Amino acid sequence: MDNNKRKELKVSAIRNGTVIDHIPSDKSFQVIRVLNLESSNYPIYFGTAFDSKKYGTKGIIKISNKYFADDEISKIAMVAPTATLIEITDYEVTRKEKVNLPDKVEKIVKCFNPKCVTNIEGIVTRFRVIEDHKGEMKLACHYCEKTMKKENIEFF
Ligand code: CTP
Ligand code: ZN
Repeated sequence: MDNNKRKELKVSAIRNGTVIDHIPSDKSFQVIRVLNLESSNYPIYFGTAFDSKKYGTKGIIKISNKYFADDEISKIAMVAPTATLIEITDYEVTRKEKVNLPDKVEKIVKCFNPKCVTNIEGIVTRFRVIEDHKGEMKLACHYCEKTMKKENIEFF
């Protein structure tokens, strides 16, 4: 197959559901994991390392018949901040926006500090979303005040 033909490869349109586009290629599988898409009963199209004008390469996931709740969209934003969320209804794009990091994250993330009261007493977690001087996202625990880097984030 020559290069021009490869670039024409396209994934089918979906009738209803959600498209997650512009995922950094190295985060594609992590997005699948945090959204628990491995156990999906709905058809899913998935591609990674596709050419992208904006980002070099990207991943894209199309999930039929599924619309994500705010908590799930927050997870996407934490793992893949460049992602675009597109909702499709009857083949039409009905919502299209860059995923947004929330100001606060509750319940969905575990504190990485084993001594944190949330881990010892099973209290519901709460974090403030902050940026360090390099512009990297971090989570500050409301209870133990430790800050967690992206790579230490673990979702429940
Ligand atoms: N899409 C889809 N099924 C549809 C409509 C759109 O899977 N019924 C997908 C398209 O393949 C595309 C994304 O949703 O990946 C956004 O669709 P649209 O806004 O129509 O595409 P473009 O204008 O090409 O947007 P972009 O350049 O941002 O990819
Ligand atoms: Zn903590």
